[in-house]
Amino acid sequence: MSANQFQNPVVRWIDHRLPIFSFLNHEATEYPTPKNLNYFWNFGSLAGISLVIMIITGIVLSMNYTAHVDYAFDSVERIMRDVNHGWLLRYIHMNGASFFFIVVFIHIFRGLYYGSYKAPRELLWMLGVVILLLMMATAFMGYVLPFVIVGVVILHLVALHRFGSNNPLGIDTRGPQDTIPFHPYYTIKDFFGLSVFLTFFAAAVFFFPNFMGHPDNYIPANALQTPAHIVPEWYFLPFYAILRAVPDKLGGVLAMFGAIAVLFILPWLDRSPVRSGRFRPIFKIFFWVFFADCLVLGYVGAMPAEGIYLVIGRVATVWYFLHFLLILPILSVAETPRPLPQSISTPVFGGSGAMAGASAAPKRKVE
Ligand code: HEM
Repeated sequence: MSANQFQNPVVRWIDHRLPIFSFLNHEATEYPTPKNLNYFWNFGSLAGISLVIMIITGIVLSMNYTAHVDYAFDSVERIMRDVNHGWLLRYIHMNGASFFFIVVFIHIFRGLYYGSYKAPRELLWMLGVVILLLMMATAFMGYVLPFVIVGVVILHLVALHRFGSNNPLGIDTRGPQDTIPFHPYYTIKDFFGLSVFLTFFAAAVFFFPNFMGHPDNYIPANALQTPAHIVPEWYFLPFYAILRAVPDKLGGVLAMFGAIAVLFILPWLDRSPVRSGRFRPIFKIFFWVFFADCLVLGYVGAMPAEGIYLVIGRVATVWYFLHFLLILPILSVAETPRPLPQSISTPVFGGSGAMAGASAAPKRKVE
């Protein structure tokens, strides 16, 4: 849309000199989006909204929080009792962290299943892994990092808009018949997803605000006494299990960071030209085994590091790395994928639409 097409003269005047309205119109309204996206594609926008919720409540909380070993606990109690709606802000922020991680974990597993990390979206995926690292660092240390996350999220979206979204079939769009404008179709769908999300979120904040917390947080810190069991927040548990699976301390730290580092090189480990797990019968099985492996790691991370838990933790850790370093590279060459549909529209309009040997690899050359 050119600047002349805007009705409002002020908008037209500004846009002629600084084309921000054309840009927004193109990227948020016209933006051609595959018409077959399922609800798993709602989680990116939900992650963005969660991030905004965390930043706003975090800033307001920090206005009343005292980061001092002698005052921190009391300042939190004051927020809960005396600050207007302080309890609400704190419970939103507390539960917001958990919901943010739930949403982002679903977002990541969506990418893993539908092969969204494959060409030409490798950098989009890698920026996502940077976001994950920053989120974990922020949850661990707090404060300044949310603003860095915003910066990387903006890069993430720029990379997304370069080639547009992948889709459940994992094949490229082949023209306007395969896409619809982002607005109003996906804005409405995102709003619907948001209402469902907020329903669960509000239920947690108002009815079970401490469910995902830990009772130890209600005991003031005592510098002279180390707690008997240190258990991190639930979203760290799988990584904590990997950390403890290695007997050597440095080795454990390396394995823990290695678990994320391996995600960076994932686009080069899985070389299969077919993106979506829907057409990869063996990959699909291993995907679910991997998913179960992550749950097992999470469970083991919450248990004491001894006896059977240690054994299970070690097996699950080895499997985690085997999945990426051995299974995916082997499947890339050994698996015979099912035939791909000719286009996004064919499965809807024309029978099975299967075309033997069709490739999910991008048609245009990607540098
Ligand atoms: C603050 C955290 C994040 C935000 C706000 C965010 C935002 C978004 C949005 C809005 C989209 C488009 C909608 C969608 O596909 O759901 C998207 C797509 C994507 N994101 Fe994220 N993201 C975040 C974290 C991550 C992480 C941690 C990863 C991976 C490790 C990741 C990987 C991807 C990929 C591969 C796509 C393209 C998916 C496709 O088109 O199939 N993102 N992201």
